Amino acid sequence: MAPKPIKNRVTAMTGADYPIIQAPMGWIARAQLASAVCAAGATGIIETSSGELDNVKAEVAKMRELTDRPFGMNVALAFVRGTNIVDFVIEQGIKFVTTSAGSPSVCTAPFQEAGIKVFHVVPTLEGALKAIDDGVDGLLVEGGEGGGFKNPSPVSTMVLLPLVRSRTDLPIIAAGGITDGATMAAAFALGADGVQMGTRMLTSAESPVHDNWKQAVINAAETDTVFLNQESKPALRALKTERTAALAPLGKFNVFEHMADIQDLYFGGDMEAAIPLIGQVCGRIDAVRPVREVIEETMSEFYDVIGNLHNTYG
Ligand SMILES: Cc1cc2nc3c(=O)[nH]c(=O)nc-3n(C[C@H](O)[C@H](O)[C@H](O)COP(=O)(O)O)c2cc1C
Repeated sequence: MAPKPIKNRVTAMTGADYPIIQAPMGWIARAQLASAVCAAGATGIIETSSGELDNVKAEVAKMRELTDRPFGMNVALAFVRGTNIVDFVIEQGIKFVTTSAGSPSVCTAPFQEAGIKVFHVVPTLEGALKAIDDGVDGLLVEGGEGGGFKNPSPVSTMVLLPLVRSRTDLPIIAAGGITDGATMAAAFALGADGVQMGTRMLTSAESPVHDNWKQAVINAAETDTVFLNQESKPALRALKTERTAALAPLGKFNVFEHMADIQDLYFGGDMEAAIPLIGQVCGRIDAVRPVREVIEETMSEFYDVIGNLHNTYG
């Protein structure tokens, strides 16, 4: 039997059974993965950071064939150029958006006027306070242990989440290091109302990436990520490979040059073709698992952990 749904501020906005969000990831967070997430009772997100908006539109249409459950989209503001991304997303008819990599001030009001709830990704307290001023509906508080593009001064989820919670009553979705029910329970103890999983979803059975990459994540220890380009923007956290180990001491380089052949890595399995973005939680992932198993186990374990804590200390 599926674990009990959670009714809270996040599921009220996402329309899902569980306050678990699949992270947006360029090219990866498309219908195959996102529809499996929705079918399992969580929230699938369709990416726009690839910039391939015609393909993204087709993926949204595919979502409507594969699931009748609600899903969301992500707008990584710095990565989409030459199109009115706000109008594009509104036209897709979804009701939940996460914005990242830029200021939400330009898009929060138009999204909200179209009936869309907006959560902005924040890596610092300062970023959180700015997003609150911009009128967002919630915050996606992302710790520096997570995979992907990062603030040059990474702050861990353990520090950032309670810090932001101490300054706002808005709903918070926590990201960075979340992979199971124990980490979800920890995030809730620190003030979150929901969690987002990136690295975990990247390695799921329904993730479209090449098996070489999934296996590399599974084989990686918690010490096997590198933090790159921290003297410039965007900084990023990635798997240690020959390419990224050589880039690590540079402090500053042209990230986009090293991401140009990313599809050879994502779908061709050539781990040296580009920079493989992953989080430190790779050290806790040891198998490729179907999304439904990951989500249902996370929820059961979440209930067990909070129950055991209550029984022991309550
Ligand atoms: C391969 C990859 C691509 C990502 N692309 C995006 C993106 O397009 N937009 C975004 O907001 N976050 C992106 N992220 C960050 C994730 O949304 C998420 O917050 C992060 O992975 C959470 O940490 P975790 O990896 O420990 O779960 C990406 C992460 C990974 C691993």
